[in-house]
Amino acid sequence: MELTPFVNIINKNCGLIVESNNSPNLSAAIYKRMTTKHLENSEQYFNCLLNSPEEIQNLTDLLTNNETYFFRERSHFQICIDHLIPDILKRKKAIKIVSAGCSTGEEPYSLAIALADRYGMDIFDTVSIFGFDINQTVLRAAKNGEFRSNSFRDDGTAYRGKHFQKTEQGNYKLNLLIKGAVQFFHVNLSQSHFPKELCNVDIIFYRNVSIYFSQQTKKLILNNLRKALNDNGHLILSSTETFSHGLEGLVLEEIDGHFFYIKKNVVKQIPQKTLPKIKRNEVPRSSALENRKIPTAPKPLFDKDKNPSYLFERGLEYAIKKNYEKSFSYLEALLALEPANIEAQNLCATIYINLQQLEKAKERCQNVVALDEWNLEARLLSGIVARMEDNYKDAVKWFKSVSFIQPSCWTAHMYLAELYNLEDDIKGAYREYSLALKHLMKSGVEKRNLSYFPLACNQEQLAHLFEHNLESLKQRTNKV
Ligand SMILES: C[S@@+](CC[C@H](N)C(=O)[O-])C[C@H]1O[C@@H](n2cnc3c(N)ncnc32)[C@H](O)[C@@H]1O
Repeated sequence: MELTPFVNIINKNCGLIVESNNSPNLSAAIYKRMTTKHLENSEQYFNCLLNSPEEIQNLTDLLTNNETYFFRERSHFQICIDHLIPDILKRKKAIKIVSAGCSTGEEPYSLAIALADRYGMDIFDTVSIFGFDINQTVLRAAKNGEFRSNSFRDDGTAYRGKHFQKTEQGNYKLNLLIKGAVQFFHVNLSQSHFPKELCNVDIIFYRNVSIYFSQQTKKLILNNLRKALNDNGHLILSSTETFSHGLEGLVLEEIDGHFFYIKKNVVKQIPQKTLPKIKRNEVPRSSALENRKIPTAPKPLFDKDKNPSYLFERGLEYAIKKNYEKSFSYLEALLALEPANIEAQNLCATIYINLQQLEKAKERCQNVVALDEWNLEARLLSGIVARMEDNYKDAVKWFKSVSFIQPSCWTAHMYLAELYNLEDDIKGAYREYSLALKHLMKSGVEKRNLSYFPLACNQEQLAHLFEHNLESLKQRTNKV
């Protein structure tokens, strides 16, 4: 069966990528629908799809991944009720929370249960909760509010006895009061405009939905979700989802080691203090350089000395030779021409780390984060600085932020593993070394997001080291 036309129609309709030409899911779904409709071949079924939005919906319902369970990533619900809601209530009298891609309802109902347990049922006079999904079948199940034991996979199900009643079939029926606290709507998140119910939102849960979308669809949906948020509204993604870089107006925030986004409508400016206005061709003399009696950039400036890439290459060349004085003179000359040159700022930060001038390194990293909030290199360098200062908490925070922005960054996982190991958090160290190993093998040693730190070993040696550490952690666990 030729699947491409079906792939295209599904992609166009809901943004899902089901494009692998031997996708068993897609052909199984098509056969299932053909049988139900008593059609003999796929051409007939395709014609039927073309003329029936209802049939597209039926097919889509068979193609979405609806995996979910109560209190999945419990910390997100905790942060919501402990921090976000009290904070919003200081500013507003009513709060709207949305679960975008709610599946069979476990996510929005978990929130309702957590709210009721913490604040009592009156909280629903103030907080409204909405669940949205493209799949009509899961929405019907969500509205029905009856769940199998599989929905209670998370540890700690004390709430189940309180809010559910066991049915004769061995399922769990949600109490009417909690059920009534959540409203469900059909939505296609990949359409260009959201319905009014999905506007002016204070907190959006958008977790485990984007995995099967193309980059373009991911970006479109994130942009629309940002628009749907009120100012200072929060967007919560699952910790394994990659965030598309640099989405204007969404700022990464951290509470208790957990990350989410906040909508800020501010135009970012580089603080004057960190990047002084410099006249063109005037070579700055930073105090660090003065202290080290480093000569300023070669004078007079020739044409090539005004060429940014030439200046950078020379700066890098001298940095590699560990001739930091010369390297700085080129980099500072470059930064005089282009104060916002991120590569040069990061290279300066790396050199300062090598020179153990940690305050200076921090300042350069701050410059970069002010220019490009999602810059992984500056975040990794900030983590390295914090680690050198024995500031465990900040180091973990920086590396965690990198692993959140780009879950495949093995360097961040490696540093996290080392830190957890130091703190005797064996489980954490084991998890992070496993992730470091997995992503190292997938993306290769070159993709480490630290451009200027030379590596002492090759991929094979590094993988061997991670495996060795994993083995000793396993032995330590057995001894405990
Ligand atoms: C894996 S479930 C995640 C459920 C819940 N958010 C969680 O984290 O447990 C993903 C849900 O996203 C829904 N979904 C997929 N594409 C969608 C779209 N274009 N618009 C709305 N919902 C969509 C699917 O139907 C599915 O129920």
